[in-house]
Parts: sequence; structure tokens; C-alpha cells
Amino acid sequence: MTVLEAIEVTKQYNMGEVTVEALQRVSFVVSKGEFVAVMGPSGSGKSTLLHLLGGLDEPSSGEIALAGHTITHLSDDEVTVVRRRKVGFIFQFYNLVPTLTAAENVGLPLLIDGQRIEKYREKIDNLLKMVGLGDRLDHKPDQMSGGQQQRVAIARAFVNDPEIVLADEPTGNLDSKSGTAILELLRKSAEDLGQTIVMVTHDPRAASYADRVVFLKDGRIVQTLSIESKSGASDDIRNIMRVMRELEL
Ligand SMILES: Nc1ncnc2c1ncn2[C@@H]1O[C@H](COP(=O)(O)OP(=O)(O)O)[C@@H](O)[C@H]1O
Ligand SMILES: [Mg+2]
Repeated sequence: MTVLEAIEVTKQYNMGEVTVEALQRVSFVVSKGEFVAVMGPSGSGKSTLLHLLGGLDEPSSGEIALAGHTITHLSDDEVTVVRRRKVGFIFQFYNLVPTLTAAENVGLPLLIDGQRIEKYREKIDNLLKMVGLGDRLDHKPDQMSGGQQQRVAIARAFVNDPEIVLADEPTGNLDSKSGTAILELLRKSAEDLGQTIVMVTHDPRAASYADRVVFLKDGRIVQTLSIESKSGASDDIRNIMRVMRELEL
């Protein structure tokens, strides 16, 4: 079952005299429970693609279908509801609210959706335990390291049981042990819970936890690679690095 689809998607940014072609006729289908990694050089359109897939921005042309809704035809309010209910985002900058504790930050999407937070206390605690922050529930962002804040943001992305998780460099600032724990969490959420994951990464080892890797260059998909191990095997990492070299990424 397809849960995420981009059809001939183009995105241009108009910067005064100059037009930047961030994405050029990108077509892309992701099935339920699939874990896809997106790689490519800086400026190749990875974050733009993630924003469009999540309905945070609109394509210049083409269509995006998200969890069975062709969002290109929905009103802003309708897109917001689909996004809130179906999508978890992990951004490069964690966007935590500085005055809230870790647990409150994780619960924020539920609060915004008008739900009673008390009902979810146990779930929030469990999510923070899963990202290794069971002893940091009441810490505010400025009392945590960058990596810990990032893990709060990861827990938050899962709080509404999203069908789709969109992650921009989720392991970028983590040491290798925490990074591996997060990659295993993403792998498990896809395999056991049928959640669909799209993860942007620079790291071949992170990408080797996905089912396949999509390579972007200059706003186009230039290659797709299937991953055998889906768990960081050195053969897969070598294959990813070979494709990166071949494509001069
Ligand atoms: N809001 C924006 N306004 C203007 N140009 C942008 C904007 N966002 C991204 N771009 C441009 O679009 C291209 C793709 O950017 P981005 O999607 O952020 O790439 P990546 O995430 O792969 O580094 C780049 O040339 C970037 O400068
Ligand atoms: Mg980016």
C-alpha cells in the first residue's frame, strides 16, 4: 500500500532576479512500513523534498499524496489536520520549547491537537525511555546536551503514533552509541509497527539501516539502491559509499 507519493514534483524558489530549482520533476513512491533514506550533497533538495512530503510547503508543480490524501488539493487547514494526525517530524534543529520540560515537549503535539495530556503520561515516559532519556523527564532543553535535545525531538515525533515519520539528519549530532539506538528504533518502528520512515542523512552507516537509499543530485533523483542487511552491515555501507563516489556526491 502506498502511503507517500510525489508525482513529477518541481519546486522553485524565486529570489529576486534568480530562480533556484530546488527539485526538478521528482517522482517517488513509499509503501507502508518502508524505511527510505535520502542522500545527496548539500543543496541537492533533500530538506525541500521532506518539507513537501510533509505538507509544510507546496510544490511549484506536481502533486504530493500523503496517507491517502492528495494534499495538493486540500485547504491549508485540511493539510494541517492530516499532518498533525498522520505525520511525525524530526527536524535538523530540534524546535523544542525552551520553557517546557522534556516530557512536556514530547506531549506538545497532543496538546496542540486538543487532547488531554494526563492520559498520555505513561506513553510519554516510555518514549523518553526508548531514546535513553528515562532519567531526564523533567529537564528543560537548556539543561540538556544537543544530542539529548535531539532525542527529545525524536521521541516527540512518535507521540501521535504517526503513520509517517519524516526525519532530517536525525542522528547528525549523536555519538555513535545513541545514533545506533535511534537507527534501531526507526528500523523497529517500520518493521514492527508498520510506520513509514523517510530519513535524510549524510552518513552511509545511517543509510544502511533503511530498505533503500534514494540519491538526489541537483534536485533530481539520480539513483536508488536496495539495502540487504538493513542493519549497518559493512557490505551495505561499502555499496552506499561506492554509489556516492560514482555519482560524485
Ligand atoms: N526557503 C528557501 N528560499 C530560497 N531558496 C531555498 C530555500 N530553501 C532551500 N533553498 C535552496 O534550494 C536548494 C535546495 O535546498 P535544500 O532542500 O535545503 O537542500 P539540502 O537539504 O539537500 O541541503 C538550495 O539551492 C537552497 O539554497
Ligand atoms: Mg537540508
